[in-house]
Amino acid sequence: MANILIVVGSVTGKALSAAQAIEQVLAQHHQVSLSTSPSVADVQNPSLDILLAVVSTTGQGEVPSPLMPWFSEMQDLFPLLPALKFAVVGLGDSSYANFCGGSEQVENLLLELQARPICDRFKIDALEYYNPVDVAQAWALEFLPLIS
Ligand SMILES: Cc1cc2nc3c(=O)[nH]c(=O)nc-3n(C[C@H](O)[C@H](O)[C@H](O)COP(=O)(O)O)c2cc1C
Repeated sequence: MANILIVVGSVTGKALSAAQAIEQVLAQHHQVSLSTSPSVADVQNPSLDILLAVVSTTGQGEVPSPLMPWFSEMQDLFPLLPALKFAVVGLGDSSYANFCGGSEQVENLLLELQARPICDRFKIDALEYYNPVDVAQAWALEFLPLIS
């Protein structure tokens, strides 16, 4: 059983509902917690196996403001996380220039911190899926076998 932390960056709640759908699937097999206001210490917890970031995009390709305190603190403190595995789910809208840019920023930061990606970033396009719950749930079912 893996210890998984889902950090969520959401403005109008779509990323949050996607994250909760993923949490429901993963929690059937793993120990999962979800946070919309995580701290750097949360991801430095030695008993954490997997960090899953579910992040929408706001402004011009930016990380949602509720997650910015965590994101900025991670940039400032720059804790190296070579033992941590991670995955990123991005929510965006492909009619914008920086499609899923917020999740791309989070992924790039985690890579700079030497955390290890489990799979490619999964992008959910609001143009294609008005409600992200079903597609998030389907992704979680595909993600499950990648977790050892
Ligand atoms: C003001 C505003 C700016 C946005 N900027 C972007 C953007 O730059 N890139 C993108 O892919 N999506 C952008 N979006 C689309 C949202 O990321 C998308 O609708 C997402 O599903 C919202 O998720 P949330 O409700 O969790 O915040 C923007 C939406 C709004 C309202």
